[in-house]
Amino acid sequence: MVFLKLEKLSVSAGKIKILKNLNLSLRSGETVALVGANGSGKSTLAQVLMGNPNYRVVSGKVKFCNHNLLKFKPEERSQAGIFLAWQNPPVITGLAIMDYLRGIYNQQQKVKKLPLLTIDGFAKMIKPLVQELGLNRVLQRDFNDGFSGGEKKRLEALQMAILRPKLAIIDEIDSGLDIDSFWAIKTLINRLKRQGAAFIVISHYTRLLRSLRPDKVLIMSQGEIVKNSDSTLLAQIDQLGFKRLLKS
Ligand SMILES: Nc1ncnc2c1ncn2[C@@H]1O[C@H](COP(=O)(O)OP(=O)(O)OP(=O)(O)O)[C@@H](O)[C@H]1O
Ligand SMILES: [Mg+2]
Repeated sequence: MVFLKLEKLSVSAGKIKILKNLNLSLRSGETVALVGANGSGKSTLAQVLMGNPNYRVVSGKVKFCNHNLLKFKPEERSQAGIFLAWQNPPVITGLAIMDYLRGIYNQQQKVKKLPLLTIDGFAKMIKPLVQELGLNRVLQRDFNDGFSGGEKKRLEALQMAILRPKLAIIDEIDSGLDIDSFWAIKTLINRLKRQGAAFIVISHYTRLLRSLRPDKVLIMSQGEIVKNSDSTLLAQIDQLGFKRLLKS
């Protein structure tokens, strides 16, 4: 079965062509590191896979678990097991975090015809995760309202842990994290990996990427995947940087 396959995917925003002719295959449970200079198209690809309507697929195909993913609405992609941790998560004043988290969890349970959780039952279930991610003090607030950069990233990680996706796309989840949060998120990702989740990990730092031992490392440049190699590429990136590496 095809897990994730992109074939000649090209994407525009308005009149600007951003992604050009992308090809990518991912097997169930694999981890891909997606790297590249600022503005190379990494977040755009992440958003397109999640179905952000600001982007238009001009040509190409995306298959996920044998389905034509491009026909799926964002919520259907989520129900199919795809999760995106945003690079810049939105602030939604008026949306209570606990209501939101329980809502996404119960929605998933409903689709799978599994039992729903009450407020108390849900709070009890997520308690160990909340502690692991050090989020105890912020969960009574509105969604990302007044959150520090690191708190926003940890809330993204909590959503991922609650939904336990088949494919998690994590867009710079390691930027701006203190050392303890870094370890907590790294541990969580490794646990989900062991449980069979596939990952597309976008980062500017090889520390997280190396520790996840990716099956593939892709470099993007100007909307194209210009290099597709194994994890040895990470050491070369650290040594040379993208410009020199891509010239060599
Ligand atoms: N909605 C949009 N309208 C116009 N241009 C856009 C839009 N979204 C993205 N772009 C442009 O597409 C290019 C790729 O942006 P993207 O955010 O995907 O880069 P990135 O690789 O994630 O960069 P970074 O490492 O800085 O996060 C950039 O030049 C960006 O300005
Ligand atoms: Mg980005």
